[in-house]
Amino acid sequence: MKSTKEKIACLTSYDGSFAKIQDETGVDVLLVGDSLGMVLHGDETTLNVTMSNMIYHTRLVTNNCHRALVISDMPYKSYTSPAQALENARRLAHESNTDMVKMEGGKEISEAVASITQDGIPVCGHLGLMPQSIHKLGGYRVQAKTEAEANKLKEDAILLQVSGADCLVLECVPAKVAADISSLLDIPVIGIGAGVGCDGQVLVVYDILGLSEQKFKFSKNFLSGRDSISDAIKAYVAAVKNNSFPRLSHSYE
Ligand code: KIV
Repeated sequence: MKSTKEKIACLTSYDGSFAKIQDETGVDVLLVGDSLGMVLHGDETTLNVTMSNMIYHTRLVTNNCHRALVISDMPYKSYTSPAQALENARRLAHESNTDMVKMEGGKEISEAVASITQDGIPVCGHLGLMPQSIHKLGGYRVQAKTEAEANKLKEDAILLQVSGADCLVLECVPAKVAADISSLLDIPVIGIGAGVGCDGQVLVVYDILGLSEQKFKFSKNFLSGRDSISDAIKAYVAAVKNNSFPRLSHSYE
């Protein structure tokens, strides 16, 4: 899709009923995000999510998805060393049938990423705003605003690709930085709050249906003015594919 410049439409998915609708309405990638800790459990961060939570929710999704690619988050502290990362990635792949695992971090996790990809399990990286590092980042805010931070982000992105990562999520970074990284890398870059220049977009499914209390600049309620969840999801997929989402108003400078 990256080589033919077809935008990749991705949404989070946490259970079978949503996965079935999303799969049938043409979403390309279903991300079982550890955002489920906040969205489903009501926690303030993603830090309490466990391997068992991820395996359970990913199974619900993979059991009901026949077409879309499924990516599942490795939870907080499940990949602190290459050996632990490999053990947990194998467990997630075997017990949940996920197609790919996602991990937050750059240089510091590159050996762990290499150990998993060399084992034949595809990996999606995640850079920019990394919710598992929320206490270190000091809050949910835009990342890589300075030139030095943007350069570090680019170096980390390249290192993840060299370590074997198959795609990359960029969260809450200036649109120009995300567009540069997308053209620099061979692997697809999927943005959230990262502008229209990425190879695809991801949003939290509850946000696009107006179910979340908090409203985010980078998201949009696609159910508004429509009659069904299917229609809202179809509208999201179409908007990503024809570049009408995200607009400048959903992006950061
Ligand atoms: O956990 C998640 O849902 C995510 C996306 C918001 C990218 O990582």
